[in-house]
Amino acid sequence: MSSAEEVVRGLAGRSFAGVDDFSNQELSCVLALAAEVSKDRAAFSEVCRGKIMASLFFEASTRTRLSFETAMLRLGGQLVSAIDVGATSLAKGETLADMARVVGGYADLIVMRHPWEGAARVVADYAGIPVINAGDGGHEHPTQTLCDLFTLQHERGRLQGLRIALWGDLKYGRTVHSLAFALARFGATVVFRPGVGFAAPEHVLSKLATDYGGELVRGDVLLQADGEGVLPVDALYMTPRSPHQLAMLPHLSAQLELDQGVDALYVTRLQKERMQAQKGDLRPEDYPVVDRKLLRRKGFERSIVLHPLPRVDELSLEIDSDPRSLYFKQAHQGVPVRMALISLLLGCSPRVTEPAEGLGDDWRPVSHPVYTHDTGIRCPNERCVANQPSELRYLPQKFVLIVGTPPRVRCWYCDHEMEPPVIATAEAYDEPTHRRKYHPARSRWAAAIRPENLLLSASSEEAEAAGFRPGVV
Ligand code: NCD
Repeated sequence: MSSAEEVVRGLAGRSFAGVDDFSNQELSCVLALAAEVSKDRAAFSEVCRGKIMASLFFEASTRTRLSFETAMLRLGGQLVSAIDVGATSLAKGETLADMARVVGGYADLIVMRHPWEGAARVVADYAGIPVINAGDGGHEHPTQTLCDLFTLQHERGRLQGLRIALWGDLKYGRTVHSLAFALARFGATVVFRPGVGFAAPEHVLSKLATDYGGELVRGDVLLQADGEGVLPVDALYMTPRSPHQLAMLPHLSAQLELDQGVDALYVTRLQKERMQAQKGDLRPEDYPVVDRKLLRRKGFERSIVLHPLPRVDELSLEIDSDPRSLYFKQAHQGVPVRMALISLLLGCSPRVTEPAEGLGDDWRPVSHPVYTHDTGIRCPNERCVANQPSELRYLPQKFVLIVGTPPRVRCWYCDHEMEPPVIATAEAYDEPTHRRKYHPARSRWAAAIRPENLLLSASSEEAEAAGFRPGVV
């Protein structure tokens, strides 16, 4: 464990492109400073005097942009902004890297929202100043997670051991992706409750299992408590730090999980703007609604209701006056939380605060080896920044290797994963060409290859084009 002073010093000059850029101690440090800001905002009014924040919002935003801008102004700093790709040189075909280099020379900090997944990571690589991801397509929204954690910690006094239901569009909703990772890291139990067809993507579930040591329990159909209809539950996730009966007895009905109660319902809207052409119309009963009736159900009596907002139809107006409904308060916390983050990244924080109790053990990112061979594999996500025509010119495809049988690669920008079907060993380059063989990824030959020698190909044709022949199967 580092001292609080070391943690504060270590955050200066850093970027925050995804929740895993910070350790638990670092996230806790931001939350602790945000609590100080909430208590005495005036004490922070000159902290960023003379600093300029570039506010680049290339997707719709109310809360995130305005709370970031309010935060910078309340810290005594100033702003330059762009709120439309069409009004910037990106519309002329400029690359993100060039934009980052230019804006990095004007401002002290960049806050960016962009539809391409992984865009903030690219800008962070080229800007030379701290970059904060304010949402990159359907990938991550790490500062919303800070607001969510701050609210949960404030209302429940801890994060470790909490039980949180993530509700609604878990497929395209970036807020739930970042939040699920952070909750798992802090030792909370996450219960997924997606709308039909909006389950959390495989790469998110896979990261929860691989990087956070989590256990996924897949349920299929869940009967509602009142016996009406069915709630399809895609997956239940338990952290290893809160061993759970269900995790050990996977055949128990998933119904028990929700009936035992949750500390919070984290509701999200359908991300219509990210949906590809959907097969058939979405039926209203396919998307779960949180209303007065649901809050009266067993298991939800004491649940607080959070929502990153904006809401559409998934959160009934009738519960706005319910004391458990905390979404507007949660939105207001955006200003102190972002004031704390900005001042820490700019190295301007006037205070060092000890993190609050109940935030669990420290967790550091799992370090997967970088996959360095250029064997032609490409990120499968068409919304990934590395697959955009303007960025292809300079941005290499970049992956980390998830060692296992079969091995997988995870895109360094957007976290999407793929399991390349055929595998060879780099040691084959020492062999005569006629002895260079490739094997199916799930074969025992493939399993015997050391990770640093793995050569992964997207197809047998590609492996053959690279000079390999089919091995013995
Ligand atoms: C969220 C977002 O933009 O991802 N909003 C926000 O930042 N508070 C959620 C949403 O748009 O549904």
